Amino acid sequence: MGFFDFLTEEIAIDLGTANTLIIHNAKVVVDSPSIVARDRMTGKIIAAGKEAAMMQGKTHENIKTIRPLKDGVIADFDASEQMLTRFIKEIPALKKKLFAPALRMVICIPSGITEVEMRAVKESAERVNGKEVYLIHEPMAAAIGIGVDIMQPKGNMVVDIGGGTTEIAVLALGGIVCDRSVKVAGDVFTNDIIYYMRTQHNLYVGERTAEKIKIQIGAATEDLEVPPEEMSVQGRDLLTGKPKQVDISYREIAKALDKSILRIEDAVMETLSQTPPELAADIYNTGVYLAGGGSMLRGLDKRLSQKTDLPVYIAEDPLRAVVRGTGIALKSIEKFKSILIK
Ligand SMILES: Nc1ncnc2c1ncn2[C@@H]1O[C@H](COP(=O)(O)OP(=O)(O)OP(=O)(O)O)[C@@H](O)[C@H]1O
Ligand SMILES: [Mg+2]
Repeated sequence: MGFFDFLTEEIAIDLGTANTLIIHNAKVVVDSPSIVARDRMTGKIIAAGKEAAMMQGKTHENIKTIRPLKDGVIADFDASEQMLTRFIKEIPALKKKLFAPALRMVICIPSGITEVEMRAVKESAERVNGKEVYLIHEPMAAAIGIGVDIMQPKGNMVVDIGGGTTEIAVLALGGIVCDRSVKVAGDVFTNDIIYYMRTQHNLYVGERTAEKIKIQIGAATEDLEVPPEEMSVQGRDLLTGKPKQVDISYREIAKALDKSILRIEDAVMETLSQTPPELAADIYNTGVYLAGGGSMLRGLDKRLSQKTDLPVYIAEDPLRAVVRGTGIALKSIEKFKSILIK
């Protein structure tokens, strides 16, 4: 405890491809889409988060919306730093402060990240006033957030299906024993739907519409117990150029997503096949935990369960499991010292 510790604030950040979440004082204070809008003339960021997301696909030539992260890593550093700065400034308890406080932070990073990318994330955090910055691997944070005791000599498997990447990891004794990271997750599902609509219905739909389709009627299998109703989708007819509407069923979306889900299944199977036998025995008993927004796709848990012959559980509030775990690590930095990267 230093003398100036009262000037330091603690925050936990899940800087995701699709959503950025921040915990301060054990509460989620930021939960916003990872997107910014930039004025092309001045180069200034004019909006971030929800406000920028509303502009997506509806901009004119002077405004451009940017998603600073791609495939789970920062693709546009300037935009990502400005986005983080804005989000941190919006935290109600920090807004009231006279001076921008020094920050102790824990930020999660994908397990497949390179050394160079890791350093870049850290430097970015330091530039937004991070005085003490720790990094934590995402699957580890997800497991802590789900409530798994990762320090035990017991194997657990976690699959985090986010926007940019699916991270699969077997954890034991506070470490990652084997893992896979594939660039197939929510964003790819959305693009699969855009492609399907274009090729099967000659209908050109934007990203926001495709994501809506995914959430409203998306499915990982045609064999659903409670199937959603058909959905009317509007877009532009590719042949006539006119606006048009078609009705879509979840079965079509299940077909559209099948190949991508197969790739996730394969990655899970590969990870299982590399798991040491003692840990495989543990996983046989405990099953597989799912986290991330992509895990909410209808029937995905059932499909993975059939493929692996294991029980599959979706985390409570899967979109927040990672930031919850990151927040827990922040609260007990001493306890989790061995897994935090300084
Ligand atoms: N009900 C739902 N059904 C299917 N997909 C959903 C649902 N709700 C959200 N998603 C998808 O989840 C994804 C976002 O999940 P999440 O916030 O976990 O990703 P992220 O952490 O930002 O990404 P990453 O971990 O890859 O960097 C988006 O692609 C979104 O479309
Ligand atoms: Mg994530």
